[in-house]
Amino acid sequence: MDNRPIGILDSGFGGLTALREMKRLLPDEELVYFGDNGRAPYGVRTPQEVAAMTQEVICFLLAQNVKAVIVACGTATSSLPYLRRTFPVPVTGVVVPAARAACAATRSGRIGVTGTELTIRAGKYNEAIRSILPQAELLPQPCQPFVTLVEQGRTEPDDPEVQAAVRSCLAPVRAGCPDTLILGCTHFPLLSRAIAAYMGPDVTLIDSGACAARETAEQLRRADALASGGSGRITCYTSGDTALFERAGSGFAGQALQGLVHYASAAGCH
Ligand code: DGL
Repeated sequence: MDNRPIGILDSGFGGLTALREMKRLLPDEELVYFGDNGRAPYGVRTPQEVAAMTQEVICFLLAQNVKAVIVACGTATSSLPYLRRTFPVPVTGVVVPAARAACAATRSGRIGVTGTELTIRAGKYNEAIRSILPQAELLPQPCQPFVTLVEQGRTEPDDPEVQAAVRSCLAPVRAGCPDTLILGCTHFPLLSRAIAAYMGPDVTLIDSGACAARETAEQLRRADALASGGSGRITCYTSGDTALFERAGSGFAGQALQGLVHYASAAGCH
């Protein structure tokens, strides 16, 4: 039993998809979230820059006494090989859990892989899928404009800008007829209604943030490190605008975050 909180990080709002799933699975767990909105987007930076920022955020979360960290960000996960140190708690990324879920879901072996520019260039999803399903046919596609929309709080499926971005980013993937689509940036499940409407009902969408939350829950269970009679408290930190985080984040997290969001910068944490 371990009543310390679970830390969750992302460049911004996307990791709230992992928080939402963790809350659903393990409501007693205390969660500490860090959204690096002030330095988003990560996806247009170099892996070295993202690794340095991710390391700072992990250090910030460790200072909150977390027992595990979910790197609820495909871009940060892709840069983990560049981290310059190791950590005393388990650190789980989104790539392997989402790749496993996609391989379990696909029938045709044709899998669309979406992510930020850095994530798609890094190719970690492709590697992970091929290690499980060598014959998979992959359709990788960067969709960086989705991040900007979500960071602006624009996710409604009838928003013409959302529809235009979904069409222009996903047309090449849809043309390849996948039966499974990895939403490999955690911001993307927040657009899943628009994405599902465009891709059609025969395409299974894989929520990478939710997959990482499930994996972490399972790891904690195996290590006998779940909370017992925990507070279920949520504390969010953002390096961006706290009022916007409360407003938009409440919708994304599936629960009211009013009064739970604080400003913090992870810059310089080590
Ligand atoms: N949520 C992010 C991801 O999963 C990062 C988006 C960004 O900051 O570019 O990749």
